[in-house]
Amino acid sequence: MKPAPELQRAPNINHTPIAHVARIIAVASGKGGVGKSTVTTNLAHALTRAGKRVGILDADIYGPSIPRMLGLETYITPEIIDGMMVPPVAHGIRAMSMSLVTGDQAAVLRAPMITKALVQFLRLTRWATAEAPLDFLLVDLPPGTGDVTLSLAQNCKLDGLVLVSTPQEVAVIDADKCAVAFHKLHVKLLGVVENMSYFIDPHGTPHHLFGQGGGAKLAEKFHAPLLGQLPLDANVGVCADNGENFVASYADSVAARIYEEIADNLAV
Ligand SMILES: Nc1ncnc2c1ncn2[C@@H]1O[C@H](COP(=O)(O)OP(=O)(O)OP(=O)(O)O)[C@@H](O)[C@H]1O
Ligand SMILES: [Mg+2]
Repeated sequence: MKPAPELQRAPNINHTPIAHVARIIAVASGKGGVGKSTVTTNLAHALTRAGKRVGILDADIYGPSIPRMLGLETYITPEIIDGMMVPPVAHGIRAMSMSLVTGDQAAVLRAPMITKALVQFLRLTRWATAEAPLDFLLVDLPPGTGDVTLSLAQNCKLDGLVLVSTPQEVAVIDADKCAVAFHKLHVKLLGVVENMSYFIDPHGTPHHLFGQGGGAKLAEKFHAPLLGQLPLDANVGVCADNGENFVASYADSVAARIYEEIADNLAV
């Protein structure tokens, strides 16, 4: 596949490493509402439980969810040290997000400002130090494959993509486009996470409410592993809304165990 024309012209590529950050992984789906932010947050929890140091860059500038999901909802102006923003920490996870800057206000910004904000979060945040390096910086992307995706790929060297989809065809079609876009940007697909795959009733029987096979189809097409198939679980939503650590609070649940497996697979 030919690289995207935007990168062929390559005006502003900055792939210099971010100091003391070992791996930068994008979490994307193409489609909205399939669980990117939820997967990012719970993967961060699972990686943290596995002893990794993790940060989350909330690249969804118009619809930031990460502070709420981490329990950082309140307006915090990040401290500035030597011209660098110090990311607040929740559950051991360092995070940077537009909603830490704007509070509850909507970010009313044109595209060039979005890119500027993203680059500042990426490059003007003190993500790590020699004493406290980061093993993973997870980037929670907005839906679509627009400006933010391009700017991210141009402004850091991504170590991989975790593609999130639900089993439904409408989600799979968008996830497919997203995988192709990242391929054009030379970003490796680390694997597919199928979210909301099934619902387990009180008798333990799984029900595939949104069909079956979407995640497997994507994994097969792009020669990447199917990292996990996460069930619908009301506690996932409740924890996300309350900024609670689902993986720790419901450690025996099917979903938490799958998150831990995915984290183990990514951490190797
Ligand atoms: N496995 C799950 N079980 C139950 N609820 C879930 C699950 N995964 C996600 N949710 C809920 O679905 C909603 C959408 O999830 P989320 O915000 O993570 O999606 P998104 O892909 O990041 O959306 P957007 O495209 O708007 O950024 C949230 O309310 C979340 O709590
Ligand atoms: Mg989101």
